[in-house]
Amino acid sequence: MSPSMSMLLQFLLFIPFVHAANATVSVYNDSDKYKYYGCYNETTQVPGSADTRALGGGIDESLPGQMTVPKCLAFCGNGDTEYRYAGLEWSRECWCAQTLSGIAEKLDDTACNYPCEGDNATACGGSLKLTVYRVSSASVLSTPGLLTLASTGLVMMVMML
Ligand SMILES: *[C@@H]1O[C@H](CO)[C@@H](O)[C@H](O)[C@H]1NC(C)=O
Ligand SMILES: *[C@@H]1O[C@H](CO)[C@@H](O)[C@H](O)[C@H]1NC(C)=O
Ligand SMILES: *[C@@H]1O[C@H](CO)[C@@H](O)[C@H](O)[C@H]1NC(C)=O
Ligand SMILES: *[C@@H]1O[C@H](CO)[C@@H](O)[C@H](O)[C@H]1NC(C)=O
Repeated sequence: MSPSMSMLLQFLLFIPFVHAANATVSVYNDSDKYKYYGCYNETTQVPGSADTRALGGGIDESLPGQMTVPKCLAFCGNGDTEYRYAGLEWSRECWCAQTLSGIAEKLDDTACNYPCEGDNATACGGSLKLTVYRVSSASVLSTPGLLTLASTGLVMMVMML
């Protein structure tokens, strides 16, 4: 075999390994506040989306070389507004929003296989794909309890009047 042939062969054989590399990322799920919600398609290029984002109307940031899921969850959850949804895209972008667009399709988890630039073992979406987290119901469980207490109190007050 000629040297160039063997180099070509090595090159061709190497491609699957390069592509398989991203498949080893795992989904971060160590937050009490936000739970993994799924891998969703970005909507900017979907017909009828009018260029709007899957997670639009909120805030976003890009941290080249530094983005991690915990950083994004803190950005979306620890500010003046606690955003219901947090999504990571393109390895470095963090999108926070109160709603997830109804036309954003849920994809297979494995479609979000880009590693975070600040933690290459963890999934940070993909090209026009978002690793989406949502505020967990467990973290707002105390609210229905309080509401029930408050409304019970109101009913009792009304009955006493
Ligand atoms: C988090 O992920 C790990 C490994 O992927 C899994 O074993 C564990 O059950 C997950 N925990 C939750 C709360 O989903
Ligand atoms: C995902 O979005 C792209 C455009 O960003 C679109 O071309 C594609 O059809 C969408 N896929 C699904 C499964 O919705
Ligand atoms: C792996 O992730 C990088 C970004 O970190 C991206 O440029 C590349 O296309 C991804 N490869 C695959 C096979 O998804
Ligand atoms: C992933 O990150 C670890 C630790 O930061 C580093 O040692 C390793 O070289 C990185 N791997 C790739 C493929 O970037």
